[in-house]
Amino acid sequence: MSFPLFTVTILYDNRTIQDDLLPSHGFSCMVENDRGKKVLFDTGESGPLLLANMQRLGIDASTIEKVVLSHEHYDHVGGLISLLANRIDIEIFILPSFSTAFRKKILDLNGDLKEVSEGMEILPGLFSTGEVVGAINEQGLVVVGKEKALFIGGCCHPGLERMVSTASQVAGQPVGGVMGGLHLCQSEDEEIESQLQNLKKLGVDRIAPCHCTGFTGMDMARDIWDSGYFTTGVGMKLEWE
Ligand SMILES: [Fe+2]
Ligand SMILES: [Fe+2]
Repeated sequence: MSFPLFTVTILYDNRTIQDDLLPSHGFSCMVENDRGKKVLFDTGESGPLLLANMQRLGIDASTIEKVVLSHEHYDHVGGLISLLANRIDIEIFILPSFSTAFRKKILDLNGDLKEVSEGMEILPGLFSTGEVVGAINEQGLVVVGKEKALFIGGCCHPGLERMVSTASQVAGQPVGGVMGGLHLCQSEDEEIESQLQNLKKLGVDRIAPCHCTGFTGMDMARDIWDSGYFTTGVGMKLEWE
């Protein structure tokens, strides 16, 4: 079995790693395989800001084939409208929990909606976790690797461990990398520490937290993972195989 190399690029985040890129509350990243197939995971809140960052990173928005939306919060789905303005051929993967109003908006723009319930292959080696149930239902992405998988989360509202263990089941291998919004920004310090230590015990050896992880969570992750910690922000790239 061969394992394609995937590159994940952050396009929308609360922070940026380059002065010419724009930070804003929200999340979006692009997952690209080694054959140039591109999937967008979330779209941030502002379409113009998302498109500006893509342009500055040299990414042609018309080459995105699929969009996976983690959950229906404005800071993850707002940018989709701009992306669809001139395109009707992008497949958009949503969850059963998405509202009728949202679906109508997308269908009115001739968007091609697909509903994901269970774990589903999006590209060879790239899966949706399926709908993980929680206070707010959510899907994440999981990239299968040679030995371990990479999990990418939008906000992880159903809980970090639940999202990561679902990702591991769908990938059929342990999760070794965690990236994205980890939603630790509203938790007490002890709770954040215990959630991060649990990830470490599950075998996560690389972590790239951003968006709603919060500064305390990011600082603790840097202390716990040391060289396995990756500083995030718009423009950051992570390779996985
Ligand atoms: Fe969010
Ligand atoms: Fe959210």
